[in-house]
Amino acid sequence: MTLALELSELASEISREAGELARTRRVEGVRLAATKSTLADIVTDADREVEALIRDRLRAARGDDGFLGEETGAETGASGITWVVDPIDGTVNYAYGIPAYNVSIAAVSGEPDPAAWEVLAGAVHAPALGETFMAALGHGAWSDGQRLAVTTETPAGALLATGFGYDPATHEGDLATVARVMPMARDVRRMGSAALDLAYVAAGRLDGYFERGLRPWDFAAGSLLVTEAGGLFSRLDADSARPMTLAGGGAVHAQLLAILDEKD
Ligand code: IPD
Repeated sequence: MTLALELSELASEISREAGELARTRRVEGVRLAATKSTLADIVTDADREVEALIRDRLRAARGDDGFLGEETGAETGASGITWVVDPIDGTVNYAYGIPAYNVSIAAVSGEPDPAAWEVLAGAVHAPALGETFMAALGHGAWSDGQRLAVTTETPAGALLATGFGYDPATHEGDLATVARVMPMARDVRRMGSAALDLAYVAAGRLDGYFERGLRPWDFAAGSLLVTEAGGLFSRLDADSARPMTLAGGGAVHAQLLAILDEKD
């Protein structure tokens, strides 16, 4: 078995255990631990507990690897591999009992910085939906044994997804971007989980996705799902405070790129 496959198996196994913990806590009742930067930027006790479980499992299985998690930050490792983890992506959905939340785990090599890393493996597990999406570099992407493939949809018929930043100061610009994109598409969804949006692009349920200002753990696993499913994943303005992330099959990606690359 190659290293990428081994890492994807591990990511998938841990994401299922972590997802089960998140689901159980949801059933028991979620306590909102804190809002972070703004009202929409929340963290629950479960986010922290799930991240601690993932960190423990990874430490036990691969003690030399680094770690970058949404809730607890970064830890450098000696192996050159870093795990990039969102314990609960779609936290607002989770807190409100909407099932579109997931555990997202990726293994990257090189610097734990999206501009420099290579994503080796990833898993996105949505416990309340009963689905796991996984990918290994050079081996493809799967969901529960089925190979994933992006659509070959033309831009005019594209079903897209997007998301908005947490900072109210960004909303006007983000909505203006949505308005610029809408004429090219059938419709645009805002599901509240970037990792799931990317998994759905990989699975061919969505034709494309775009969002400004994602953090590394929001898209690390999802980016590999898309590219291993035959799609394209890009980030524009990578040095800016809010890089634009976009993904899709060839034609949809190209059209999105043409629209989003125009300056606001
Ligand atoms: C958020 C979700 C949301 C996206 C935000 C992300 P979180 O992640 O993925 O869909 O619009 O940009 O930060 O905070 O729920 O882990």
